[in-house]
Amino acid sequence: MAFDFTPLLAAGLPPPAARWTGWATYNFTFGNNDPEGLAIEDLTAAAETALKREGRRLADYRLLMGPQGYKPLREFLVRKLERDAEIECTADDILIVSGSLQGLDLVNSALTERGDTVICERDCYEGTLNRYYRRGINVVGIPLDRGGMRMDALEQALADLKSKGVRPKFIYTIPTVQNPTSTILDEDRRRKLLELAGQYNVPIFEDDCYADLTWSGKRPPAIYAMSKSQNVIHIGSFSKTIAPALRLGFLVAPWAVMSHILSLKTDAGSGGLEQMVLAEYCEAHFAEHVPQLRQRFRAKLDTMVTALNEQFGTAAEFDYPPGGIFLWVKLPDNVDTMKLRDAAFAAGVQINPGPEWSIDKAYSKCRMRLCFASPTHEEIRQGIAVLADVCRKEFGVPTRSGNIERAKGRA
Ligand SMILES: Cc1ncc(COP(=O)(O)O)c(C=O)c1O
Repeated sequence: MAFDFTPLLAAGLPPPAARWTGWATYNFTFGNNDPEGLAIEDLTAAAETALKREGRRLADYRLLMGPQGYKPLREFLVRKLERDAEIECTADDILIVSGSLQGLDLVNSALTERGDTVICERDCYEGTLNRYYRRGINVVGIPLDRGGMRMDALEQALADLKSKGVRPKFIYTIPTVQNPTSTILDEDRRRKLLELAGQYNVPIFEDDCYADLTWSGKRPPAIYAMSKSQNVIHIGSFSKTIAPALRLGFLVAPWAVMSHILSLKTDAGSGGLEQMVLAEYCEAHFAEHVPQLRQRFRAKLDTMVTALNEQFGTAAEFDYPPGGIFLWVKLPDNVDTMKLRDAAFAAGVQINPGPEWSIDKAYSKCRMRLCFASPTHEEIRQGIAVLADVCRKEFGVPTRSGNIERAKGRA
């Protein structure tokens, strides 16, 4: 008989994982990248050059460069962050992490305990929300409008918490192409956010992993760059611009908190080969690669928008995003996207139901997040048609699709 681990399991574990049985044919979940957008030849050449030149560094856990990561990659980031985000920092202010998810874990470990409070956007990255729930953190969600997190609501929340004697551990925000709403916080709101953070003595945790993906190629300065009081922790990622399976991101933080984060990063370093290849590749190609990738993403977004308009008509409401890889879609009020998720999966389509991406389960019940970066144009067209069919069978909407009027409740 198989050994019984059940009585030995630690208390408070998340639900056990189901065995992976493959993706659905049409996968609009995850923030995956576009396989066709990967510059395989340039990456291969970068790997060969880096390995031939410095491969012997792999004999050392930390590439003979200390605990903060491969120095040329950090030096690339110093220049990139200054050029794009107006961040002035040195390689010593940067820590290379195994994906920005590790950055989230490190910051959460350094700053939070069970029962603490953090503030974030009401609709928010599932990976962030789940981490808070699992750590027993009280999450206060701030509603967004088309300009991102609403500063009047933030001010109110901070005042309410203060009146209860609660000092939040930080304000977590995805200010530049927010996940899932794709909104961008403009410079005025960033200034206001910093003003409120200063007034209430609360640091800001800025997650900027989509910041390179605005269609205009422009973005407001990072909140980190605008702060005058070293009260911001900034994280970014190579997942959205290069490839998520590299598992490389970065964290920029003042030494006062970086020193504690470093003592928590006990994995003996993030993947060294990946860092070396990425540094080599980015130095030569990042600046030309990203605009091409944006074009690819935007073309796919347009395909998805057209498909939604054709298949769902007015039943699918959304704002055309200014960048990124997601559409945050509102369906008619009677649609429960948790149920739609299961029915769609059975029909071969994967979607992210709103309640998993929001603190407000009622508000997000009829909303869903669709990722358009990795499926092909054809998969987007076909998948959205299947999704509309499933939605009509389950919920009677959309009543018009494929430009054909449908009787309510019938396929
Ligand atoms: C807002 C946000 N932060 C962090 C991550 C994690 O990214 P990484 O692949 O760098 O761990 C994601 C991934 O989708 C994300 O959307």
